[in-house]
Amino acid sequence: MTATTTIPHPPAFWLRDNCPCTDCRDPRNGQKLFQITDLPAGLAIGSAREARTPLGEPAREIVWAPDGHRSLYPLAWLDAHAPEREAPHPGDGRTEADKELWAAADLRGRLPQAHWAAYSTDDAVRIHALDGVRRLGFVLLRDVPLRDRQVLDVARTFGFVRETNYGELFEVRVEADPNNLAFTGARITPHTDNPYRDPVPTLQLLHCLANEASGGDSGLVDGFHAAALLRAEDPAAFEVLTRTPVEFVFADARTELRAQRPLIETDALGRIREVRFNNRSTGTLHHPAEVLDAFYRAYRSFAALLLRPELQLDFRLTPGDCLVFDNTRLLHARTAFAESGARHLQGTYADLDGLASTLAVLRREGGAR
Ligand code: OGA
Ligand code: ZN
Ligand code: ZN
Repeated sequence: MTATTTIPHPPAFWLRDNCPCTDCRDPRNGQKLFQITDLPAGLAIGSAREARTPLGEPAREIVWAPDGHRSLYPLAWLDAHAPEREAPHPGDGRTEADKELWAAADLRGRLPQAHWAAYSTDDAVRIHALDGVRRLGFVLLRDVPLRDRQVLDVARTFGFVRETNYGELFEVRVEADPNNLAFTGARITPHTDNPYRDPVPTLQLLHCLANEASGGDSGLVDGFHAAALLRAEDPAAFEVLTRTPVEFVFADARTELRAQRPLIETDALGRIREVRFNNRSTGTLHHPAEVLDAFYRAYRSFAALLLRPELQLDFRLTPGDCLVFDNTRLLHARTAFAESGARHLQGTYADLDGLASTLAVLRREGGAR
């Protein structure tokens, strides 16, 4: 049996759009050289035959009608991309479909973590750590050097620092005139950071330099899991939170940032993709009264759910710990602490696309999962 009969022809425009020839793609970078509108109407496979690539791999040659263009597709490529074997709606790695949702007990004894020395020198360890961020939403790096601005070097191991009005990094410690409750000893309930930015920073890092205060313990909540629970328990509330734009605001003497996004954002197929939640920076909502009523009912349900103790992973950052987490999915919290005790974190923001790229390249280079 020949491959021509075992692999059906995929849709003509898709196949032609993927022609690898040097007229269609710049061989130096693989970028496409034509517009989709350049392809002739009525495009169809004129003839197909078994062939070989210049490297001798089995291939299929197609001569297209009506323009006579010739394409040569390696059979291995056709097989790997066969449309008939695709899941109906593959995820992009960012939605609940591609995550392992967790409650606190699910992570007991299997915290995603890595030691800095191994993370810095061993690709397999780095792959495991970055995969933890993709799959579970975070990784805890241990024994990171206790150096000022080290958090920036941590971010640069997988991506790019996102500078903001707080600077390249922010200091989380008690300040005399705080522009944010984070810079006091107050308890901070589960939240995502900077929902008033659009685009929101998709990754956050917190590097612990000192934690001698009594209190100041950390918590993480899987916001995707919480949103999925809300959908199961109160589907109407879930709907409301995906559809109601919420204004988030941050303002100080030099800055005024505003963004309007729903608390739960879904993709085109309704899958949970982003959670934003921050009571400190939620602004005044402007909607008709009945929308406000429905929103506040749903908002309270979701907020109560986020405070369920079984959802929150509790731990204490010790000096040298650096938490790297998905700020579009996980909520973070801390207990109150005595302002007399020394507690100092340095934080910064970065983005998931850079982390995903680093992970993909490491995997391409042959590291194990
Ligand atoms: C923050 C924050 C947590 C902490 O600065 O955004 O949430 O542990 N800090 O102090
Ligand atoms: Zn071509
Ligand atoms: Zn925060």
